[in-house]
Amino acid sequence: MKLANLNVVSFESRHAETIGSLVRVQGGLPFLAPSMKEVPLENNPEVFLFGEKIFAGKIDILILLTGVGTKALLSILEMRYPREKILEIFCKTTIVPRSPKPIRVLQEWKVPFAITVPEPNTWRELIESLDQNKEILPLLGKTVAVQEYGVTNHELTDALEKRGATVLRVPVYRWALPDDLEPLKAAIRAISDGKMEVAVFTTAVQIEHVLQVAKTMGLEQALLSAFKTMAVASVGPDCSEALRARGVSVDIEPESPKMGPLVLEIALKAKKILANKVSSPNLFIGDQTGYDSRLKLSGMTSDGESLKNSTFLKACRRQKSSFTPVWLMRQAGRYMKDYRDIREKTPFLDLCKNTDLVTEVTVHAQEKIGADAAIIFSDILLPLEPMGLNLSYVKGDGPSISNPVRGKKEVEVLKDTFELEKLSFVYQSIRQTRRALKSDVPLIGFSGAPFTLASYMIEGGATKDFSRTKTMMVSDEGLWKILMQKIVTVSVRHLNAQIEAGAQVVQIFDSWAGVLTPQEYRQYAMPYSAELIRGIRKGIPVIHFGTKTGDFLDSMRQAGGDVIGADHRISLTEAWKKIGHDRTIQGNLDPEILCGSLIEIKKHVERILKEADGRPGHIFNLGHGVLPHTPEENVIALVDMVHEMSRRE
Ligand code: CP3
Repeated sequence: MKLANLNVVSFESRHAETIGSLVRVQGGLPFLAPSMKEVPLENNPEVFLFGEKIFAGKIDILILLTGVGTKALLSILEMRYPREKILEIFCKTTIVPRSPKPIRVLQEWKVPFAITVPEPNTWRELIESLDQNKEILPLLGKTVAVQEYGVTNHELTDALEKRGATVLRVPVYRWALPDDLEPLKAAIRAISDGKMEVAVFTTAVQIEHVLQVAKTMGLEQALLSAFKTMAVASVGPDCSEALRARGVSVDIEPESPKMGPLVLEIALKAKKILANKVSSPNLFIGDQTGYDSRLKLSGMTSDGESLKNSTFLKACRRQKSSFTPVWLMRQAGRYMKDYRDIREKTPFLDLCKNTDLVTEVTVHAQEKIGADAAIIFSDILLPLEPMGLNLSYVKGDGPSISNPVRGKKEVEVLKDTFELEKLSFVYQSIRQTRRALKSDVPLIGFSGAPFTLASYMIEGGATKDFSRTKTMMVSDEGLWKILMQKIVTVSVRHLNAQIEAGAQVVQIFDSWAGVLTPQEYRQYAMPYSAELIRGIRKGIPVIHFGTKTGDFLDSMRQAGGDVIGADHRISLTEAWKKIGHDRTIQGNLDPEILCGSLIEIKKHVERILKEADGRPGHIFNLGHGVLPHTPEENVIALVDMVHEMSRRE
């Protein structure tokens, strides 16, 4: 299922369903947006009038504006005259093609033309070329036929008339807009909102119609920008050329210009193309003329430099930066009024699965507090559902699993090979969020660490002593291993899919590892965390976080991670020594302190920054997530404080 999770918009009309089923066979989600309706050839009275005139010798010059229109002109005339006669009369007429496209058609027909028009082939260059060739082509008193396609170019006809020519407009109607424009309009809105990944064009006219309709909706620029973030597929060279002429670059074109090979080629290439586009942040921005009000362009440099040079990613690489970057675990959560308002109307799981709301919550929190990174709004327990567990979130009590993993039977039936499509809402949210975030703000994806996930699966919800987990782990290490392996398999795929969708960094939450002794950690948790981290795509920084892990930070480092998270139960100095200064450290203000006075907060920020000692490779964060009773203004003040107090040149 090569197109699993991908939304594919097709503009084909007559064979819309064919494309739809081809896309479905590959596992994609087709969005059919017919963009054209065929106009019967006989509905072209202007062309027939032109036919009568040219055969009566009353046309001196024929200007051909488009390739598609030129071809259509011949097809229509062929209803009344034999093809050879038409081409013969064309050969006797002075023909002026505006651009390479009609030239190519004329060459195919072996019909000579009088002059060529230099780029960019607008009406201005056309008129200039005519003016320069006054000797050969005097316009005064001549009848000039102008083949038009779609819109009339009044500037051109005016300029011709000003020079004393009589103009005969020859509009060619071959394709009209479909009667029902709603599907096309819905597609244009979805593309502009960043909800589509692949666009499929099957004839040259489609792009004209799509842009024409987008223009009436005020979305032309938004659409053109959005195409830059998508995989654009074209059936063949003519269609590709029409797309390029309108500023849309073509990513996929099959060798054979047919629908079957086109969709196969899309299935083979789309994911890779999208992965490259998401890792190049200037592509999320599109051009600077439009798109979405959320796409702020300040601070943007070219070629992904702004993201790569963000203080956050610099800190991951332990490079110097002008201030210490800061973000907070649970920065989008209940302490924030806007979040509570959304939650009032939407249950937690529904919120996690609503990609628009996830995007809004994630981006809003990052922007409101001014954090140097965003973390995708989701939950570490979501992959448990497709593994076969019934997950719910009970108000006030947190997560609950109605069929927890208590023994061999339950471990055996746990699924670790399901289609990732089951979690497509996470990846789709990441794609949308990446597009909506400012270009220099990294997006963090995440998963639970195997031990923390196993403890939820076994306990079925909140627990203080983790006794069931520890019992299984110690009493049946063979079974424990099978369980942990299944979690690793799922988590590796989940993290890599998040990276592919557009996360620049991933964090592994081992929130409950601290209930283990260092020896237990090394035996029962560390090997699986290590395997998970080894499976993550190379080149993506990994943050490895746990709480109450002060006694075995060295083992966490050994398990892996470019950045190691330390909680507030240990001093940053001591933690960093244990981790080693050749790793970045993340932490570690006590979340309770953030609920207190600003003076107190400031004292602790000062202390932590002092402990970091100006060394590159410190990411400021809390020791654990923001608590629900934290005043919002304290969170905003904290981010400001860290920025100001750490500023260095
Ligand atoms: O802003 C962010 O940090 C991103 C979102 C995020 C959530 N959960 C949202 C959430 C992240 C990164 C998580 C990870 C997570 N989920 C962890 C590891 C981090 C940690 O806090 O140790 C764990 C253990 C979970 C499991 C989980 N989810 C619990 C225990 C709870 C209930 C307790 C609580 O803190 O509310 C959840 C629900 C949850 N996940 C909420 C949020 C915002 C609260 C839901 C609500 O009532 O609105």
